[in-house]
Amino acid sequence: MMNKIIIESDFSIENIKNDKIKSQIQDWQKSLEKNIKKDIVLSSSEGTGWLLTEKPSLFFIQEKFALEDIQSVLFFVEKNIYKIQPEYETKIFHFDKKGKNIEIQNLIRIKENKKLLSSLLKEKLANNDKVFPGNLQKEIEKYLENPVVYFDATKIGFVFDRASGVAPRSAGVIRVEFPIEKLVSVLNTQYFPKIVDHIKQIQEKKKKMLSSGKKYVALTFDDGPHRTRTPRLLEILKKNNVKATFFLLGSNANRYPEIVKQEKDGGHQVESHSWGHPNFLHLSVEKAKAEINNTDDVIKKATWEKPKFFRPPYGAFNDKTLMLTDKVFLLWDVDSQDWKNKDVQRNLANVRKTLQAGSIILFHDIHEASVDTIEPLIHELRGKGYEFVTVKELLDFYDGNSKGRVCVSGKNCKKWKK
Ligand code: NI
Repeated sequence: MMNKIIIESDFSIENIKNDKIKSQIQDWQKSLEKNIKKDIVLSSSEGTGWLLTEKPSLFFIQEKFALEDIQSVLFFVEKNIYKIQPEYETKIFHFDKKGKNIEIQNLIRIKENKKLLSSLLKEKLANNDKVFPGNLQKEIEKYLENPVVYFDATKIGFVFDRASGVAPRSAGVIRVEFPIEKLVSVLNTQYFPKIVDHIKQIQEKKKKMLSSGKKYVALTFDDGPHRTRTPRLLEILKKNNVKATFFLLGSNANRYPEIVKQEKDGGHQVESHSWGHPNFLHLSVEKAKAEINNTDDVIKKATWEKPKFFRPPYGAFNDKTLMLTDKVFLLWDVDSQDWKNKDVQRNLANVRKTLQAGSIILFHDIHEASVDTIEPLIHELRGKGYEFVTVKELLDFYDGNSKGRVCVSGKNCKKWKK
């Protein structure tokens, strides 16, 4: 008598709206079930049925990835057929916008990059003590004929399950990840024209920045725009050819949309600092969301771009705040304390205290003395070998973007676990 197979899944097929995708995944799940039944029958007839577990089960865990128009669903399957340890298996589906299944060989150019891929994978796998050291090279080459690969805007990952032969069955599933920049040459530009182009641009910019030998920092201005002081600051920045980053209050952006547009047109980065400067530690979820969303709306209206960075007022946030938005939380490591000093010399002295390459410097463009500080500051720092870039450029330069969501400086982007 065969026991019923228990199937558990954290994956709800109902969440998939495209019928083509849905049926392909369902067919695959059914075929797995069938195979388990076959294995059980086979074991029974071979007389090894005593090895079978009384509660055969299949457990599906699912992860989703997206890059440009390609969506991927990665499944980890735990199969319990025998009394000994479970077996693990993985399967990935890649779909285009229309729900058409695309093979991995089309998405990444494996054949042309076999050498690069196998050497990178070998290097990482060799450091994993679960991996058989023996014929790793051969196993990787075999694996690359039909690898399980996932990717998004920041990473590209390779999954080795028991079928890959790089490790014993007991090792379970091994994942190897690389920053997408490292493997951008492998992506098929036909499917990923934007990311390939974007990363190339960043790499070129980075090369230029590196070869100049400068120390890069970012000037940031909070709480504006101000009716007169912000335009004056913009003039100073323009005259000195400096690009800065503005963290706007939605309430002020709403009052002076033409100044917001000037900031954007001047090549500066325009981001969000909430609507009315509340402390997010004391806000209901509903109010906090409104603070962020309403500010997004007015900034988008003026710049045609939705803010990707958020600076919580007072730098105050917690896990709950991070859940509100997928924006990068951008703090600072150099505090001019300009709101308190209202004095050029003191502002300058405060910046000197903790400034280093990669620093994010905090100012407020709503105070007269703050604006007065900027030109002498630019001259002083340039004299010491510093150069000014936007926050985005700073994080790209220091690879901060790919490291995490909470940044206090270009060199220090902490990863925040969900
Ligand atoms: Ni503020």
